Amino acid sequence: MRTAPRYTCDDAARLAAEVYGIAARAEPLPSERDQNFRLWDAGAQFILKISNRQEERAILELQNEALRRLTAGGTGLEWARVVRDRRGREIAEAGGHFVRLLTWVEGECFANVRPHSPELLSSLGRGLGRIDTALADFDHPAAHRTHAWDLRHAETAWEHAGRLPEARRGLVEPLIEAWQRVDWSGFRTSIIHGDANDYNVLVNAGPRGHSSHVVGIVDLGDMLRTATVCELAIALAYAMLGERDPIAAGACVARAYHAEYPLTDSEIAALYTLSAARLAMSVCHAAWQTAEAPGNEYLNISNASAWAAIEALSKLPAGWADEVFRRACAGPMRDLADARRAHLGPSLSLSYREPLHIIRGWRQHLYDASGRAYLDCVNNVAHVGHCHPRVVAAEAGQAALLNTNTRYLHENLNEYLARLAATLPPPLSVIYLVCSGSEANELALRLARAHTGSDRVIVVDIAYHGNTSALVDISPYKFNGPGGRGKSAHVTVVPVADEYRSVRWRGTVAEAAAHTGAAAFFCESALGCGGQVILPRGYLREAYEAVRAAGGVSIADEVQTGFGRAGTNFWMFETQGVVPDIVTMGKPIGNGHPIGAVATTAEIAASFANGMEYFNTFGGNPVSCAVGLAVLDAIRDEGLQENARATGEYLLGELRQLAERHRTIGDVRGQGLFLGIELVRDRGTKEPAAEEASELVNRMKELGVLLSTDGPFHNVIKIKPPLVFSRDDAGVLVSRLEEALAVPPFPHL
Ligand SMILES: Cc1ncc(COP(=O)(O)O)c(C=O)c1O
Repeated sequence: MRTAPRYTCDDAARLAAEVYGIAARAEPLPSERDQNFRLWDAGAQFILKISNRQEERAILELQNEALRRLTAGGTGLEWARVVRDRRGREIAEAGGHFVRLLTWVEGECFANVRPHSPELLSSLGRGLGRIDTALADFDHPAAHRTHAWDLRHAETAWEHAGRLPEARRGLVEPLIEAWQRVDWSGFRTSIIHGDANDYNVLVNAGPRGHSSHVVGIVDLGDMLRTATVCELAIALAYAMLGERDPIAAGACVARAYHAEYPLTDSEIAALYTLSAARLAMSVCHAAWQTAEAPGNEYLNISNASAWAAIEALSKLPAGWADEVFRRACAGPMRDLADARRAHLGPSLSLSYREPLHIIRGWRQHLYDASGRAYLDCVNNVAHVGHCHPRVVAAEAGQAALLNTNTRYLHENLNEYLARLAATLPPPLSVIYLVCSGSEANELALRLARAHTGSDRVIVVDIAYHGNTSALVDISPYKFNGPGGRGKSAHVTVVPVADEYRSVRWRGTVAEAAAHTGAAAFFCESALGCGGQVILPRGYLREAYEAVRAAGGVSIADEVQTGFGRAGTNFWMFETQGVVPDIVTMGKPIGNGHPIGAVATTAEIAASFANGMEYFNTFGGNPVSCAVGLAVLDAIRDEGLQENARATGEYLLGELRQLAERHRTIGDVRGQGLFLGIELVRDRGTKEPAAEEASELVNRMKELGVLLSTDGPFHNVIKIKPPLVFSRDDAGVLVSRLEEALAVPPFPHL
């Protein structure tokens, strides 16, 4: 390692007086290589740069020449002016060192200004784009060099990878490997600034809330001729530091750069890899330099933030950042909402005031096209995690081999039926495979009718069981909702057994059964649309007994609640100590692949087997069965049911504590990872706070957490995340809720 000359402040002041004839106060500035001092003269400020002994004079000349170019280049940024010494030299010599005096560029370091607004990030990209435009036809013999920070020759940094702490080396290796795959042959080359790091970028930090922008980029010490794209990649590495959404921040910078100095497709494709590689270089160098010079504070700060960024990036799904950068440079896209409206049936709403454009899912996160990540707390379909590799591989593998209907023999079908049946208590041994929750409930309805000879149905108020005509008729959520035609004669509605609202539930199903006689009793094992209601202990036992006594059958709709979400049990009905006559499944069963299933008893199945075939073109096909098996494997092998229990219990406790601090929260309830937060305006009257709930959900989205509302009064926040949801995620959810509830209209206790 090269050693810098050691000057004191007094030395620097003396030097300034002797060489430049200015009487100034000196203060040291942090620097990796040279010694830099900030000088205060009577009215002006300067930076005195004492170059390392071995620093070539030609490189200083390159910097001076570049400064002249940039000053004339219409960058919109302020550039230092080189002050000549008493003898008229731009580069002085003193004590065996080269000395330069530059005028001071005023500004706050980008690193010290938070938050980084989109305007600020854009101004960084714009400034860099203009710098590279100004330097595009500039050349200088001294620029034809490499140095330790040359991203094109990062192999010198990788030599130090062995010095990285072993536990973290695994985070850096993929970044190095990705860098090694970069094809440099297609990139343009030019002289670049090469070090737009967060301490070299200066910002006109105004008062808080004032929109700041980049005013200057200092320190041309790393200038060299290399692939032009490195300029932006280096800046991106630092722009991503400390950001909640590093890719969104990077995309902002890249978009503005591209508008000034258009990147080529291959440069865009390499951007993310190169910026991540720059972070990897940073920690490799730090590992080396720390070994050489322990206690360098400047190093420690930048090293910690680089590691934090590397760690955050390591959690992002493959390919997403590249895609966001590609989209950022592709210019304004067609308005997706408009295009969607042009042809999509209008009976479908979008979530959130500002709809999301999600382009990637990974585990418990969704990722949008602008570079933002969202903790998905509401998607109970991506049960074992979005895009679970095992499920994806099973699906792709079988799709490449065969996908046909169930009129042929196939191992996948047999194995899946057996595995699914094994999750159910006897006598639920017969299974029908279908393609959705609606198809499952539709079939359950037919099974019940065939078995009881009655088309009467008892349903719970506010329930939703599916989108077919017959199911809309048994879904109060629909038939009593907007556009609904009201209750049909064959349907009896019982109240939501809501203990928080002290609804009387004992005997309600029995009364209905006594009134209807043999009927199908449809009931979710915990109520979703009803408002994330956990049924009172004994509710299903009493209801099932009454229904059976009247000659009817009980159907557990486990479309939302099944497959381990309950935590203590695989099926939510098991938490009630009952066995239904029919169980319907959907959503999580295929982790997003369209599968549904109905399980019943041999006796009911026999009643249905009246000669009319039940054929389902796609139900039970080999691909669906492969997917279903992979989902069951993932639940088992990753301990997801137990995770739902432990994480759910923890989250419930945290939410209850949150309720102690926010009187908007009237009730917190849950079983496993099926939870609800009911918002009220008044804890005494329990007046529902529907608008507030909607406001909270929208705010949470802005804070990067996805939730939704439901319940008879639309005031219940639903929490039903993928089962890979962790304790840390629970912590994030609760702290963001705290943040969102901190400002009106939400009162404090
Ligand atoms: C409880 C319940 N049952 C059935 C369905 C219908 O399932 P699908 O949309 O897969 O047809 C849903 C869907 O939201 C549901 O929540």
